[in-house]
Amino acid sequence: MIMSMTFAMERETASELIEEDRLMNDNDKCFVVTLDGPAASGKSSVAQQVAEALNLPFVSSGLLYRAATLLVLKHRLLPEDEAAVLALLGKHRVELIARTTGSNRILVDGQDVSAQLHTDDVDANVSVVSRHDAVRDWVYKRLREIKGSFVIEGRDMGTVVFPEARHKFYLTASAEVRAKRRVGERAAGLRQITEALKRRDQLDAKQLAPASDALKIDTTELTAEQVVAKVLKQIRTAVN
Ligand code: DC
Repeated sequence: MIMSMTFAMERETASELIEEDRLMNDNDKCFVVTLDGPAASGKSSVAQQVAEALNLPFVSSGLLYRAATLLVLKHRLLPEDEAAVLALLGKHRVELIARTTGSNRILVDGQDVSAQLHTDDVDANVSVVSRHDAVRDWVYKRLREIKGSFVIEGRDMGTVVFPEARHKFYLTASAEVRAKRRVGERAAGLRQITEALKRRDQLDAKQLAPASDALKIDTTELTAEQVVAKVLKQIRTAVN
């Protein structure tokens, strides 16, 4: 199993905010922002914009579970077969490329598969694949190898993977609003998307508990820009 994270970011350009945070806290700890929440809660676009505003790399942890699922589907394995899934992951090189602007790219054996990761098929199987402890360990190990400061989104970033992060957020929204945001991005219609999201919420429930020290933001009535503004304001307040 080979996997690497590539950051196209120059550390010297990290914002004054980070420097302030470092000075205020009198330490050299990295500046890690976690954004967790259920599917289509807006965390990916919010995290991306927050990362851009702070000039930090953005990491989408769900893409690693999606890449594992794509491999399982391509090789026609049973998503439930944990041992077979782990053996398969061991045979492929999966790279996550994170940048300060734009979305992440995923390369499998050198080939960019990013455009294949958000299909109804991957959506329908990713919860089963990501439930396996072996798969979670495969992802956790890679995420914990990330050095420096970054903004990361997922389900359990603030609880399990980066419990020490100082800036934690948890985004929610009603299933209906989340489904509406997905229409157009998926082949299915609104009703099917709503049902699929609710099913995924149930299957992902174990990973979905918010960190007790995360700021919870209900995004049902908010635009992505408003959520980004709230997140940045909270970070500034916490730093000052
Ligand atoms: O955020 P997303 O919809 O791309 O995530 C896809 C799936 O990956 C999600 O249904 C559950 C799993 N996942 C997870 O278990 N833990 C994470 N931190 C991120 C995603």
